[in-house]
This record gives sequence, C-alpha cells and structure tokens, in this order.
Amino acid sequence: MLKTNVKSTDENIQYSLDNPFVNASGCYCRTKDKLNQLITSPYCSSVISKTCTPNHRIGNPEPRYHHDENMSINSMGLPNLGIDFYLAYFNTCENTQGLKIVSLGGMSLNDNMTMLGAIVDRSFKKLPDINAVEINLSCPNLVGHGQLGYNINNMNTYLIKLLNIIARKELETQEKCKLLIGLKLPPYFDMCQFEQIANVIKDQMNYGRRIDFLTCINSIGNGLVIDTDSESVVIKPKGGFGGIGGSIIKPTALANVRKFYELLGDKLFIIGCGGITNGEDAFQHLLAGASMLSIGTQLMKEGPDVFKRIGLELETIMKQKGYKNINEVIGKLKIIP
Ligand code: DHB
Repeated sequence: MLKTNVKSTDENIQYSLDNPFVNASGCYCRTKDKLNQLITSPYCSSVISKTCTPNHRIGNPEPRYHHDENMSINSMGLPNLGIDFYLAYFNTCENTQGLKIVSLGGMSLNDNMTMLGAIVDRSFKKLPDINAVEINLSCPNLVGHGQLGYNINNMNTYLIKLLNIIARKELETQEKCKLLIGLKLPPYFDMCQFEQIANVIKDQMNYGRRIDFLTCINSIGNGLVIDTDSESVVIKPKGGFGGIGGSIIKPTALANVRKFYELLGDKLFIIGCGGITNGEDAFQHLLAGASMLSIGTQLMKEGPDVFKRIGLELETIMKQKGYKNINEVIGKLKIIP
C-alpha cells in the first residue's frame, strides 16, 4: 500500500520503493552504528547520510541540539566523518533496496565539485555504493557562510559549475549518469522567491543539467529558543541561534512542498521534510505533492521505530479513506473554489 515510485527527470532511472520514508539528512546518520540502525529499520526504505565535507569535521561546541514537545533547534556545524567514510559505508550495503543517498555540503564550490566529481566517476565505473546525491544548498549553521539557497544569482552560477560535471561526463561517455541528483532547499516565504527559484531550476534543466528531486525543507534558519527558568539560550554555538525543526515548521514545509509541486511537479519529484510526527502529517505532505517523506526531529526523539509507527498510522488513514496506494494521494490537495 505504501509503495512509491521515483524516477529521474528523463525517466531513465526508476525505483519502486517499499514505502516513502527516509531519515532527514543530519538526523541519526553520522556514524556506522546509526546508519546500520536505519538501513535495517522496517518502514524506512531509503537512507541518507549526514551532510558531508571532503574531510572529517568535529562541528560546533556542545550543547548544539535541543528539542522539546513541538520543536527542535540545532547548530551542529557539520560534524561528519568525511565523504570517503560514507561512500565506503554504503558500499558495504550492496544488496539493500531503496535509495542510498549521500548529502553533500562542502564549505566551497570547489569542495562540492571535488566530492561530486568523485561520486560521478565511481558511478560510471559501476561501483555499487550509492544511487542518489542530495546537494545541500541550505545549511544555516556555518559562521560566515550564508545559505546559498537564499542567494539566487550565486545559486545559479554555482549549479551551472557543479552540475556541468555530470553533463560533461555524460557527453564524454555518451552514457546517462545513473545517479538521482537532488537539491535540499531552505524554506522560502515569499511567492516571488518560489518562482525565482523554480526558474533557476528550470533553466538548469533546459540546458541539460540534471536535477531529479528537491527536498523541501531544511530547518528554518537562525531561530532562537530561550529557557525561562535559567533565562538562557539552550544551545551554545552562535549565541544560541540555530535551525528550527519539528511540528511548528509543518505549515511552512507544506507550503514549500506544495508550491514547488505546482511549479515543477511535472519535471521532478519532491521529498517532503518538516514537521512529520504522525501518520496524519505524512498524509498531508503527500497531498501537498511529496513522493517521499523525510523525518528528522521525530527520529531524534523516538529513534528508528518512528518509521514503523508513522507508516502504520499512514496506512490506517489511507484505508479509512479508501485509498489503495500512495499515487492516488500525491499532489491531490483540494483548494476551495
Ligand atoms: C547542519 C545543519 C543543517 O540544517 C544542514 O542542512 C546541514 C548541516 C549542521 O549544522 O551540521
């Protein structure tokens, strides 16, 4: 019942996934132990690794993550084991189903070009490690680095240079790249922004640069949580500022999924991320237009059992409403005439 189909823009690559669920990059996916728990977890068809850099990074000082009933705040600062670790890890999971996604978040365009170049080379050599890449354009926690997704001109030239690596390789080999390529976007709040970003993406695609999916949304950047008792911030980096996740961001997440589905849904698929805590939230993300569902804060709270709970809740809702499969739900949100 929960099977979902995802495909590349040119329909050359297709996956039928047992269910739409994947962890949100950053959550529960930095170490081998955590990745193993995800990869063997029922109702979690796909796994994405912690956004990585070319080399190991320790990240920001602790405490750097906090959650309460409705929200989370983090300023992790990209702690990760380096790209080679994640590629080697996925290489050991050869026979697993679903998407194995590496999230890229280099400190510079050069970093990302190096990492993507290595991944693409491996893919053309038919090494089995991963089948998808998510390029993170939206980390809000790096001091001195703005979020690329908020700088439309830079984002455009950045994507030209980065995605040309794939286009060039395809031209050189006369073969299509077998990786699904996606972008993780920050939340947008203005109708003009949605259109401008959609135009940047359409432009890339018109010039033959691959973008197969969007992940909407990353945490809402630079919120501030204050504890009344201690009269203090709750995380240490950046004076307490950090990316906000959890239930309170669901309306913003749904709006971003919906808008990009309206603007680009005929060209690519969307991973809905933000505020999924139960089957109803998952159902709403599907209605808005998500083909896959990514869980972050609730995964941090509950651990990987969360996927089965939410999966069963989603199945119950679909049965009650008479739906037989997810495709009948995706994008079918009604508006009031
Ligand atoms: C981090 C946070 C993010 O929201 C993200 O997309 C990437 C990295 C971090 O602070 O580690």
